[in-house]
Amino acid sequence: MSRTENLVSELVEKHGRSRNSLMPILQGIVQEERFLSEEAMIEIARELNLSTADVFGTASFYTFLDTVPRGKNIIRVCKTISCHMKGKDEVIEALEALLKIKVGETTHDRNFTLLTANCLGWCHKGPVMLINDEVYPELTPHKACEILEAYMKAQ
Ligand code: FES
Repeated sequence: MSRTENLVSELVEKHGRSRNSLMPILQGIVQEERFLSEEAMIEIARELNLSTADVFGTASFYTFLDTVPRGKNIIRVCKTISCHMKGKDEVIEALEALLKIKVGETTHDRNFTLLTANCLGWCHKGPVMLINDEVYPELTPHKACEILEAYMKAQ
């Protein structure tokens, strides 16, 4: 059994084989492997007796379930209307300049991936970004860079 197959069977063991188990299993894979490989999705489909199209469809609908390899730290800047109006573009530009990558890319050392996300539920305190599971509200370009620099030093 490959490492991924092992992980899938552990997660199936834990969450069960029903359709409702699909999301927690997909999330479990992303947590462990940082993205959903084709191998993992095929294996999940087999275990849950779903079509692979069904599993792929669910994974690509939820953009939080990455289907390509990502960096160790994932930055997601909210791109929805409130954050947009409060200057998310400037925040993104500052982060892109600091990391020397564009949105959707990963740094060469694989430490950071920069993404955008839909509304994170902090609209009254925008612009907002998530770094991994941590929320950073009321950003300015300067504040966003300071936060990120602390992560860069910790690598
Ligand atoms: Fe950005 Fe809601 S619009 S958190």
